[in-house]
Amino acid sequence: MGSIAIEAPKETKPTFGKDANSREYARSLDAKCHMRSFREKFIIPSKANTKSKKVVRPEQTTDDPVIYFCGNSLGLQPKATREFLDIHLNTWASIAVNGHFRDLEDSPLTQWQLLAEHASKQQAPLVGASPSEVATMGTLTGNLHLLMGSFYKPTATKNKVILDWKAFPSDHYAIESQIRMWGYDPKECMVMIGPKEGEYEVSTESILTLIDEHASTTALVMLPGIQYYTGQYFDIQKITVHAQSKGLLIGWDCAHAAGNVPLQLHDWNVDFAAWCTYKYMNSGPGGIAGLFVHERHGKVEYPENGSAVFRPRLSGWYGGDQVGRFNMDNNFRPSPGASGYQVSNPSVVDLTSFCASLSVFNQSSMADVRKKALSITAYLEHLLLSTSTEGERAFKIITPSDPSARGTQLSVLLKPGRLETLSNMLEEAGIIADKRKPDVIRVAPVPMYNTYEEVWEFVQIFNEALKRCE
Ligand SMILES: Cc1ncc(COP(=O)(O)O)c(C=O)c1O
Repeated sequence: MGSIAIEAPKETKPTFGKDANSREYARSLDAKCHMRSFREKFIIPSKANTKSKKVVRPEQTTDDPVIYFCGNSLGLQPKATREFLDIHLNTWASIAVNGHFRDLEDSPLTQWQLLAEHASKQQAPLVGASPSEVATMGTLTGNLHLLMGSFYKPTATKNKVILDWKAFPSDHYAIESQIRMWGYDPKECMVMIGPKEGEYEVSTESILTLIDEHASTTALVMLPGIQYYTGQYFDIQKITVHAQSKGLLIGWDCAHAAGNVPLQLHDWNVDFAAWCTYKYMNSGPGGIAGLFVHERHGKVEYPENGSAVFRPRLSGWYGGDQVGRFNMDNNFRPSPGASGYQVSNPSVVDLTSFCASLSVFNQSSMADVRKKALSITAYLEHLLLSTSTEGERAFKIITPSDPSARGTQLSVLLKPGRLETLSNMLEEAGIIADKRKPDVIRVAPVPMYNTYEEVWEFVQIFNEALKRCE
């Protein structure tokens, strides 16, 4: 596995009728939608509540929902979250420390000591991994550091990291600081992959070429699965195979990909990956994160009469195997697989919240999520483009138009000077989308809870607001 890139089948873009720009048409798409029952499983904030300066109790919620296109930043709260957290609080209140080792018959949760493994098992299919290749732990940037601690081993001649031109600042800082920690100069060691001047999309060919140019001096390639700014979905498999054919290790930040597109981290032979779960996976702000370590890197061997042989890493007691974890003998025997990368006992509140959102996710499949994402994103793109004339348009969609090269987010680049006014108008109309200065708004219709009607309504308000910016 891992030496040949199998061409992924091209995904086709749905097309829409001439009468697509009407509320009735949008409603007809919602009526046919295979995921329409999922919206009910989430709490959609109301327009009034989003302006509130006080905590609003559930019974005070009004029924005038905002259009929430910000699930690429923070996913909405599943109704199951409160129920799961209640169960956890009751467990803690009733059996206290015994919760570490006792499974309760009527709880959807496990004993706390095994809850991270329970969550890993459930999220593994979402990222195309076997359960033992996934750890549910910590936070994204912290996990990137732990992974780089194990996978970035620079030498005097091979010390570069190839990264994205617009890596999310936290990734950039993490890489920069790792290089410094090893005593090298980030200016010389950070090689950025970027688009051609004036473009936003980065071609796979240019990435492969850059890898070729720097392979002999590079220690690690670290890229985003989906670029947070443009929404470009990189060809993870092809790039992984290519980097590895040059003898390089490659890791992927899947913050914007996990729960958004159907990843196949194991089959694509990815060395390692990390993601947060508070975006498309709806675990709540700052929720517990996920990481992937391919099974070949997670092996632990015990030579006869010898101590454990495993990939070096930064360790803590929760990475030790469950049998010996409480021996307190200072003899570190890592759990095989990704769970051997754990360091601390995880926050059960965070895990509980994540398990609640996984319980919703697991009533669906990534194939179903993708099917709706392809369609609802194409509908958004179609309406944006068909309700304006090329040449006169005051915006440009900088997300690739190829559906295989994007998830659910479209990034819209506005002509200069419009962002503040436009965002204020959208907000006023009860639309929550994300702005990235100086000129981009990111719009993410999330398959789980957004509707085609919301997309239609958004485009009407967006067009009207743009006119008023002139
Ligand atoms: C691509 C990417 N990397 C890193 C981070 C930082 O995540 P955290 O604060 O959970 O470490 C984010 C947060 O949105 C992100 O989108």
